[in-house]
Amino acid sequence: MLDKGTIELPIPVTPKRLKYYSSTAQTTAIMRHNLKWAKTGKGSPRFQFFYLMLPCACNQRCRGCFMGQDKSKLPKELDGPFFNDRDLQAICGFAKKHGAQAAVHSGGGELFTWPGAFDYIERIAGFGLRMMVFTNGTLLTPADIKRLNELEVALTVSLRDTAEKPHNEIVGYPGFRKSMATIETALTEGMHLDNRLAVEIPVIQSNEGRIINDLLPVLRVLGIVPMIEEYILTSTSQTERRCAHSFAQARAFFKRLASKDAQLGIDWAPESGQRMIGEPKCRRPLFSFCVYPNGEIVNCPTDMQSHGNFRRESLTGIFYSRRFRKALSGYSLCPCSKFYTGGDEDIPPNLPQHLKES
Ligand SMILES: C[S@@+](CC[C@H](N)C(=O)[O-])C[C@H]1O[C@@H](n2cnc3c(N)ncnc32)[C@H](O)[C@@H]1O
Ligand code: SF4
Ligand code: SF4
Repeated sequence: MLDKGTIELPIPVTPKRLKYYSSTAQTTAIMRHNLKWAKTGKGSPRFQFFYLMLPCACNQRCRGCFMGQDKSKLPKELDGPFFNDRDLQAICGFAKKHGAQAAVHSGGGELFTWPGAFDYIERIAGFGLRMMVFTNGTLLTPADIKRLNELEVALTVSLRDTAEKPHNEIVGYPGFRKSMATIETALTEGMHLDNRLAVEIPVIQSNEGRIINDLLPVLRVLGIVPMIEEYILTSTSQTERRCAHSFAQARAFFKRLASKDAQLGIDWAPESGQRMIGEPKCRRPLFSFCVYPNGEIVNCPTDMQSHGNFRRESLTGIFYSRRFRKALSGYSLCPCSKFYTGGDEDIPPNLPQHLKES
């Protein structure tokens, strides 16, 4: 991990939030607004950001990748073209008009395998939007990171472990040092000072100790936003299910995270339904949407509930429909991983099969 000996930054008292993406009081206001709008149909919906999924290839094969990149079993919705200028004009124009500040790249693969990546980010900026990019960080040069910083991109670098050997084993590529170098360069560029640098890591049984004892304190001291999250389960494979937490383990994990943060002077208590540090119970379909290359507009990148297809209907037709308003009003929970519960009695009885204990 990074050399703690050279760090002299003070530990912040309030947890940092990632620009454009993290939940804030504004997120709560957007959700309240949308639920009210869904009831009355008066006015218009609002969004914090939207996901634009791209048919990018990937140079890694991370075990359990929710985009199926490790199994060559990609979601059928990725089967479509890269968005052209007309698509971008329609989607970005609609999103911006409805309050969105940013577009998010969260898959289908690694954005920087695509030679058009920088042109794409610049075109998004041309619509007055910023980008939050999830990246494994292995393909970025220092000059690329400088350019991303100039474009005010928020960067989330994805790791699978803090130790090189298990990380490389899990991602199926010797990328650990390259991911680390990207984090170092982003720090040198000062992206963390503008809350535009995060590290994402899915927690599994084998990395949880290092996440609590090494990763969290180092990220806090460095001023990088920790995006520590429960492992999303998209497969019924016993191996993948066994490496994920049980509900009891998730409960213990969040308590230990909170207690480590308390030692660092940062106070928070786990909340029922929480699956990521620093975030409340996930209600992302109430303040964002996700567009796939085949035109499908879905709830979230891991929940493929379709609101309609923008290649067949207008965006206004989709988002101002009774169907969309009903989806908002009826939204409760669409869990994709284990999450924090106060006790076994809090575990919802009607969970999808893949989240039932193995
Ligand atoms: C699908 S990747 C695409 C972007 C890029 N290739 C990357 O890895 O950052 C988007 C994010 O999803 C995370 N992710 C993938 N599979 C996951 C899983 N099973 N559970 C939790 N997060 C996962 C990755 O670690 C990454 O932060
Ligand atoms: S780098 Fe990202 S897209 Fe590629 S396999 Fe890993 S998580 Fe999936
Ligand atoms: S599937 Fe549901 S719980 Fe999982 S990230 Fe999406 S909205 Fe959140």
